[in-house]
This record gives sequence, structure tokens and C-alpha cells, in this order.
Amino acid sequence: MEVQSWFFLCCCLVPCYCCSFGPQAPCPPPTSRYRCARANDTIVCCNVTDFTLTEGLNIAKIRQNSTRTLYIQNAVLNTFNASSEKWSRLKYLSVVDGKIKKFEGRFWGNLACVNLSGNNISDINPGAFEKLPRLTSLDLSNNNITKIPNITINKNNFSLDISNNSHVWCHSILDLIIRYQNTSRLHFINGNDTKCLSARSYHWFNSTDTMTLAQVELLIKGRDEDCPKQCTCKTYRADFTQMHPVLEVKLSVNCSNQQLTDLPPLPPNTIYLDVSNNLIKSLKPLCINDSYAEVREFIADNNRIESISVLEGSKFIDNFAILSLRNNRIRSIPTYILSNAFDRTFHESRIVKFGGNRLQCDCSTAQVKMWLLNNKNYIEDHDEVLCDKAFERVIDIDPSKICIYEKDWTDYIYYIIGGEIFLLLSLISKVSYDYWVFKSFGYLPWPASRMPKLPCDWCFET
Ligand SMILES: *[C@@H]1O[C@H](CO)[C@@H](O)[C@H](O)[C@H]1NC(C)=O
Ligand SMILES: *[C@@H]1O[C@H](CO)[C@@H](O)[C@H](O)[C@H]1NC(C)=O
Ligand SMILES: *[C@@H]1O[C@H](CO)[C@@H](O)[C@H](O)[C@H]1NC(C)=O
Ligand SMILES: *[C@@H]1O[C@H](CO)[C@@H](O)[C@H](O)[C@H]1NC(C)=O
Ligand SMILES: *[C@@H]1O[C@H](CO)[C@@H](O)[C@H](O)[C@H]1NC(C)=O
Ligand SMILES: *[C@@H]1O[C@H](CO)[C@@H](O)[C@H](O)[C@H]1NC(C)=O
Ligand SMILES: *[C@@H]1O[C@H](CO)[C@@H](O)[C@H](O)[C@H]1NC(C)=O
Ligand SMILES: *[C@@H]1O[C@H](CO)[C@@H](O)[C@H](O)[C@H]1NC(C)=O
Ligand SMILES: *[C@@H]1O[C@H](CO)[C@@H](O)[C@H](O)[C@H]1NC(C)=O
Ligand SMILES: *[C@@H]1O[C@H](CO)[C@@H](O)[C@H](O)[C@H]1NC(C)=O
Ligand SMILES: *[C@@H]1O[C@H](CO)[C@@H](O)[C@H](O)[C@H]1NC(C)=O
Ligand SMILES: *[C@@H]1O[C@H](CO)[C@@H](O)[C@H](O)[C@H]1NC(C)=O
Repeated sequence: MEVQSWFFLCCCLVPCYCCSFGPQAPCPPPTSRYRCARANDTIVCCNVTDFTLTEGLNIAKIRQNSTRTLYIQNAVLNTFNASSEKWSRLKYLSVVDGKIKKFEGRFWGNLACVNLSGNNISDINPGAFEKLPRLTSLDLSNNNITKIPNITINKNNFSLDISNNSHVWCHSILDLIIRYQNTSRLHFINGNDTKCLSARSYHWFNSTDTMTLAQVELLIKGRDEDCPKQCTCKTYRADFTQMHPVLEVKLSVNCSNQQLTDLPPLPPNTIYLDVSNNLIKSLKPLCINDSYAEVREFIADNNRIESISVLEGSKFIDNFAILSLRNNRIRSIPTYILSNAFDRTFHESRIVKFGGNRLQCDCSTAQVKMWLLNNKNYIEDHDEVLCDKAFERVIDIDPSKICIYEKDWTDYIYYIIGGEIFLLLSLISKVSYDYWVFKSFGYLPWPASRMPKLPCDWCFET
């Protein structure tokens, strides 16, 4: 009892997260009429049911402003109503080693430490702890939860105990770790006793694997080993995949502002890559480098990329979700490369950005204009693609003006053909007329009559 009081005092005075508190008073003796007893700011209830708990708490004056701590041991309850204002004044709440069939509502108020260990809880509102801004310690050990309820971690360290819950899903733990991995404020208590289930799915049957917390954490740390020197790698999300039946972590890699001249080799499973503000010229690795096979979101703004032709027919173009190439040196957009990009089923989420590039505008750019306008839902910055000369916006170009070009002889081809047909007809008429005159009157009209003898005339003489 002495040690626990000391711990308790420590929690009261400094914002430590060691909320290890037990009863600060003994259980009421079995002979006592009521199941709860109060000592100063602490109420202890033992061996209660729904009825004896309500009764005991009223007798012990739970609603008194000074009440700080409530310790309930071996409660066998049908429901525990977390929304009740009875708990809202408390700082420490323990409801341990009992059986609670249903846990409903949301806590609110000033609770800093909540211990619900050992109650065989399987069903708890995911939002039960969301409205507790001061919560720094939550013990859900020795229950049967499958998903970790939502918690909010603010400025203080948070200790979470989910040990001995044999049916927790690993992705629930991963989601939490991923959400708070940058703050390093989340601490798991009794990590050695914390295990979780990861799904395995094959075509014909599903099963589960048990992983330890250490393995789950390793899964996330493993990404640092292959991370390129100049880049930072983070967990993007965790997937269960058919191909690799166990939990797999996808990475986001950020290599922006590094003066890179080439796309770097990536760790496998990179799904998001940001290489903005570098000196990159070529997109070739995106198509041929194996480590880029899973890249779906590619951001390379402010580089020196001159062409996107290499992307033609690539796996990336088939699968991408984001392609951002703003402020590069792209001179032309071969729209046929991206022609299928927007007309399949999953396209609502696709994003393409070409803003700030200065195209070499000519008559064919009119087609790019149409493409930009037709797909403006996917091309957010469609109005920022420019022409190199005059910095006109591509969507403003007027094809009837831009398509005026130097006339050459081919432009007169129809006149020439018309003229030739006229000449031919005249010639045929003239020859026919000459023939008729010759037959009728026996002489040749001018100019045939005046033609000098030609060297090969003898062939026609009879
Ligand atoms: C919660 O209660 C259990 C059972 O009484 C105890 O073993 C555990 O240490 C408590 N957890 C915290 C964080 O105080
Ligand atoms: C509470 O119940 C347990 C058994 O369920 C018993 O051993 C214990 O003595 C009881 N405690 C009180 C204070 O009644
Ligand atoms: C609780 O109250 C008793 C008297 O009722 C007092 O002797 C004791 O010091 C108090 N304990 C604390 C921790 O305040
Ligand atoms: C308890 O606190 C409330 C608000 O915090 C206040 O209105 C009320 O007067 C307090 N009661 C006592 C007995 O101090
Ligand atoms: C739980 O407590 C809240 C607040 O006191 C109340 O509004 C709600 O009806 C209670 N729920 C049940 C099922 O008793
Ligand atoms: C835990 O609760 C489940 C139902 O939710 C029940 O079937 C099981 O017997 C309980 N286990 C223990 C140890 O009380
Ligand atoms: C829990 O938090 C997640 C992420 O913030 C949110 O999407 C979800 O709706 C929350 N669940 C509940 C029940 O509030
Ligand atoms: C825990 O929950 C799972 C299903 O969620 C159930 O199969 C198992 O029997 C439960 N274990 C206990 C001890 O209640
Ligand atoms: C939180 O925990 C870390 C180590 O895990 C420690 O360095 C830091 O001082 C703690 N912060 C607070 C506010 O207790
Ligand atoms: C988990 O359960 C095992 C066996 O039931 C027990 O020995 C161990 O102390 C428990 N761990 C915690 C943190 O309660
Ligand atoms: C947890 O397990 C690791 C390795 O098995 C061991 O080194 C460590 O001492 C254990 N921690 C506790 C608190 O038992
Ligand atoms: C296996 O899991 C998948 C996805 O979770 C589900 O669609 C499928 O129906 C499951 N198969 C069996 C046999 O339970």
C-alpha cells in the first residue's frame, strides 16, 4: 500500500505517465452493508453488480467534487455506461478483474488514467476514449479486444497496455504506431506479452498468424535499411496482400531538395516518391528500374525533365495515381501516352499536373489544349500550362491563329490541277476539231499546218 501511495503522489505532482495506481483504501469488509467505501478523495468498490455498484457509489458520494480516484474490482455488470457524468470528475479510474458484458458510450472529462484490465471485454466503442484530452495511460490488458479503440495523443507521453488480448488485429496496432511514429510519445507496456493476429489469405482458405509486438515494430523499422542516403523513408500504410500473405508495409520516400541529377534507387515497396526541387532530367528509371515497380504516386516538381515520352506503354502509366511534373522543361505533351489514363474505372482518384511547363506551341498544340480541357477534372493545373513564346496559356490558344503558316506551292495544288484539267480538255477539243476539219476539208488548221517537219515525222507518214 505504501508503494502505491507513493506512485499515486508522483502522478499527482508531476505529469508522469506512470499511472500505476491501486486501491488507496481497502475493500469494504464482507460484513459491510455497502460494497463501496470512501477514503478522502478515493472510492473503492469490490465484488459489485449493477445494483450494488449504483447503490455503493451513491452512498460513497461519487458526485462530490473532491473525488479523484475510483477503483472497482471484480464487478460483474451487464453494461458499463462510459458516458455517465459520474466518471467525468475523476482523474483515475480502474475497473479491473471483473466481467463486463457490454461497454458503451464515450468517456468525457478529465480522466488521465484508465485501467480496464482483466474484464474479458470484447466489444468496446472505438470512440470510447476520444473525448479524453488528458488521457495519458490506458490499460486494456487481459481482455479480448480485436481492435484498439481510438486514442488521441497530445503533448504528453502515452502508455498503452494491450497485452494478453489474443485476438487483436496487427493492422490495428500498426495503424496506431504509424499515426504516432514521428512523435515517439506512444509507449507500449508489457510489450513482451503483446501479440496480434495477421491475416493470411489464400485463394481457397483464410487463416491467421500470430505476431509479436516486436515483429510488428520490426516491420516498420526495416524500411530504414534500404532508404537512400539523401532521402527520408516513412511508412505509408500496411497492406495484407494475396501475393505475400503476411502484413506488408508500403513506404513513402521523400528525396526533395537534394540536388539529385538522377532518380535514386529505392527500397522495395515504395509506393510514394517525392523528388521535387532537384536537377533530374530523365524519367527512365521510373519505367525500367525494378525498385520503382510499385510506385503509384510520383512527384517531381521543379526539376529539369524534358520529355515524358519514355513513359509510353510503361507499367507506371497503367497504374499511377499521381503524376506531378510541375515547373519542368517539358516541351511537348504527347497526349496519346496518357490517352488511356483517364478512361478506366478507378480514375476518379487520378491526378496529373503539368503546370508551369512551357510547351513549344504550334498547330498541333491545339490538340493538347483539347486534352487539357477535356480532362480538367484530373489535371488541376490545366490552366497553368504555357507556351514558350509570349507565355500564353495553352488553354487560351486560338487554333485559327496559331495554325496560319507560310504558303507554299502545295497550297495552290487545286488550282494547278484545275488548270491542268482545263488545258487537257482544250487540247482534246482542239485535236478533235483539227481532225474534223482535216477529214471534212482536207487541210490542217493553224497551227498544225505551220508546224515544221520534226525529225521523227517519217514514222507517221504512210
Ligand atoms: C491495472 O490493473 C491491473 C490489475 O489490478 C494491474 O495489474 C495493473 O498494473 C494496472 N495497470 C496500471 C497501468 O496501473
Ligand atoms: C470478493 O469476491 C471474491 C471471490 O469472488 C472473494 O474471494 C472476496 O473475499 C470478496 N471480497 C469482498 C471484499 O467481499
Ligand atoms: C485521508 O484522511 C485521513 C483522515 O480522514 C487522513 O489522516 C489522511 O492523511 C488522509 N490521506 C490523504 C492521502 O490525504
Ligand atoms: C462542484 O463544482 C461545480 C463546478 O465545477 C460547482 O458549481 C459546485 O459548486 C461545486 N460543488 C461543491 C460542493 O464544491
Ligand atoms: C449513459 O449515460 C448517459 C449520460 O448520463 C445517458 O444519457 C445515457 O442514456 C446512458 N445510457 C444508458 C444505456 O443508460
Ligand atoms: C468472455 O466473454 C465471452 C462472450 O463475450 C464468453 O463466451 C466467455 O466465456 C468469457 N470468458 C471468460 C473467461 O469469462
Ligand atoms: C477513429 O479514428 C479514425 C481516424 O482518425 C477515424 O477515421 C474513425 O472514424 C474514428 N472512429 C470513431 C468511431 O470515431
Ligand atoms: C475472444 O474473441 C474471439 C472472437 O473475437 C472468440 O473466438 C474467443 O473465444 C474469445 N475469447 C475469450 C476468452 O472469450
Ligand atoms: C517521453 O518518453 C521519452 C522516452 O521514451 C522521454 O525521453 C521523454 O522525456 C518523455 N516525455 C515526457 C513529457 O515525459
Ligand atoms: C498474460 O497472461 C499470462 C498467462 O495468463 C500471465 O502469466 C501474464 O502475467 C499476463 N500478462 C499480463 C501483463 O497481465
Ligand atoms: C522482453 O523480451 C526480450 C527478448 O526476448 C528481453 O530481452 C526483455 O528482457 C524482455 N522484457 C521484459 C520486461 O521481460
Ligand atoms: C478470405 O478473405 C477474403 C478477403 O478478406 C474474403 O473475400 C474471402 O471470402 C475469405 N474466404 C474464406 C473462405 O473465408
